[in-house]
Amino acid sequence: MVTIPTLPDVVTKVNSMVGDSKVSIQEIGDVIAQDAPISAKVLRIANSAVYGLAEPATSVIEAAKVVGARALRNIALQASVIQRYAPLSSIPDFDIHGVWKHAIFTGQLAQKIGATAKAAVGDFTVDEFYTCGLIHDIGKVVMLESLSEDYLEVFRRARATHQPIHVCEQDVFGFNHTEVGAVVAQQWQFAESVSKVIQFHHGPRQMVEEDPIVAVVAIADQISYRIELDNFDDAKKRIEALAKKVLGVEAEAMQEIYDYGLEILPLIEV
Ligand SMILES: [Fe+2]
Ligand SMILES: [Fe+2]
Repeated sequence: MVTIPTLPDVVTKVNSMVGDSKVSIQEIGDVIAQDAPISAKVLRIANSAVYGLAEPATSVIEAAKVVGARALRNIALQASVIQRYAPLSSIPDFDIHGVWKHAIFTGQLAQKIGATAKAAVGDFTVDEFYTCGLIHDIGKVVMLESLSEDYLEVFRRARATHQPIHVCEQDVFGFNHTEVGAVVAQQWQFAESVSKVIQFHHGPRQMVEEDPIVAVVAIADQISYRIELDNFDDAKKRIEALAKKVLGVEAEAMQEIYDYGLEILPLIEV
């Protein structure tokens, strides 16, 4: 029923190069530079306020040297995924711009929470957390492309009934965007842990509580969603209890993360 997209060649190549210690940043930059639309987007993202470069980078290789290979991989992924689904921006009732903004915001928050919860998450890197945030809801976009009007109907229903979208997806299709997203991550050859994070970002609670890496992204997703809605107070206690229990992060440290979120949300460009 659902067609899983392939990742553009340049991103697949960059992914395998980043994992290879013999490959230099210059070589990675060269591969991206061969794809003009992706390199233009990569430059724009690297020069956006979120990365805070002191001097704007004028070439992909320059950007690569400043942000590093792993961040560059995420930027290339972000650029190519957004470009791949650009045609969906003309669909009424589906705010794809909002989906990407939420994805980037969740990635930024997951990085911050992951760094704060260093002791609990082990060697899972901040860049891997960004990847997870970036693609945690990719299943929605993939489902929309394949199921079109049927999926839009589910979207409208979720909005009208104030039900979570994954619950409505499950009712109508028998699967939801978390499962689709997990398959996408596998096909794109991301680490097993990335696929697991995507699969369990809406629970069940037990899966979130027993894996700190899943918890980081689930918490980032909730904070991101709440800040976007400007409706935080009723979820705050629940989020803080989860952060304390699974990540050992205290409420004061969570407060810093909310403040960081409020500060960076206006800086995010899609
Ligand atoms: Fe989701
Ligand atoms: Fe989400």
